[in-house]
Amino acid sequence: MVNGTMTKIYVWSFFTRLFHTLLIIAVSVVFVIAEFENLLSYHAIVGYTIALLFVFRIIWGFMDVKYSRFEDFNFNLKDLREYMLNVFGDKKEYTGHNPASSWAIIAMIILGLLSVASGIIVYGTQEGMGILSFLNISLFKEMDLFEDIHELFSNAFMAVIFAHIAGVVTDKVVHKSKVVESMIDGYKNGDEDGLELTLLQKLFGTLWIGSSIFLLIYLLISPSNLLIADANKAIDYKVEHKLFYDECISCHTLYSPHLLPKKSWVKMMDNLENHFGDDASLEQEDVDSIKKYLVNNSAEDSTKESAFKIFKSMEANDTIAITETPYWKKRHKDIEKSVFKRKKIGNISNCKACHKNIEQGLLNDKDIKIPE
Ligand code: HEC
Ligand code: HEC
Repeated sequence: MVNGTMTKIYVWSFFTRLFHTLLIIAVSVVFVIAEFENLLSYHAIVGYTIALLFVFRIIWGFMDVKYSRFEDFNFNLKDLREYMLNVFGDKKEYTGHNPASSWAIIAMIILGLLSVASGIIVYGTQEGMGILSFLNISLFKEMDLFEDIHELFSNAFMAVIFAHIAGVVTDKVVHKSKVVESMIDGYKNGDEDGLELTLLQKLFGTLWIGSSIFLLIYLLISPSNLLIADANKAIDYKVEHKLFYDECISCHTLYSPHLLPKKSWVKMMDNLENHFGDDASLEQEDVDSIKKYLVNNSAEDSTKESAFKIFKSMEANDTIAITETPYWKKRHKDIEKSVFKRKKIGNISNCKACHKNIEQGLLNDKDIKIPE
């Protein structure tokens, strides 16, 4: 403990505290909704917001803001060791960031930004969405690597956050420190001069918080903006191939050509007389025309995530039922059998009951809705 005249001094500016609060909320939201595929675009939106909050925090760290500037961080490894060894003992008090939180903050900024950057790559390559949607090509779809990297960075980010929280809790419980309160009211006890912001710093702080909130709202209300836009365009099959549309929508959902590989379409079209117990036979000329269209737009030639995954799951399997493909089974295995029997669904082949735009060739996670 410093022996001197201890008074309440201002340490954390309004902007630092607001940033800290927004970050806690945003990071909690982003991690929770990561578990829900149909909330993917919201996961991305909050991710972008976190990145912007961090970018401003980095600039803030180079501005002359007492305690918040990186210059005032304590990166001394000897201090860190001493701090950690005395976590439960009589450790030194720091007015600004202690050595552990100094390191944690830098790690969180770096891992947070890496998580967002790798997330943007996954969003583009796997989903065909966002600024990197042009990378939604077969070459990159092969690579689960990006997804693994994204997960790795996010988990590391989370680990540092938990370590940081553990540190704060220990400080609070063992040392009865005012660390939590200080992040709310901005004050700590100390014998130094407190923080004072210049007008420029106040303007910058306003821009920091303001633009982050603006970005969040803007992304939420304009789903077609570049950062989250969906590059998968709706297909009007009636215009693309009228015969396919007319013949194949008469008994059931119009299944997009990208949902099965070439071998399945050929097998199906060569045996329309015996089509799942129905006779769906057509003039040979029409059969050839539809077959050609299906083969040319089949799973192996599509950049869509569902196409790639169905195709990859099939290997030696040459089923002609989409619902018999391993990928389809895997993705629907958690849905109770009784759900498919609901009035508004009927049977498992009635895809459009749950996948709103499937007849336009779209299988967005965000469009999945199981009717009651
Ligand atoms: C005479 C009615 C009829 C016509 C016409 C028809 N089908 Fe079908 N189709 C069925 C039935 C019945 C099933 C079994 C699943 C069901 O009950 O919906 C089926 C199933 C399918 C499935 C498998 C769905 C699954 O559950 O995985 C595909 C794919 C399919 N049809 C494609 C086509 C295509 C392509 C055409 C156009 C050439 C076509 N069908 C025309 C009656 C028809
Ligand atoms: C009872 C509602 C329901 C029906 C009917 C249904 N699905 Fe699904 N489908 C879902 C749900 C829910 C998910 C998401 C599961 C998950 O999160 O893993 C899903 C996921 C998928 C996916 C993976 C999404 C992706 O991005 O790759 C594909 C592909 C798919 N469904 C295709 C179909 C097809 C084709 C049919 C019709 C033959 C069909 N589904 C019928 C509810 C349904």
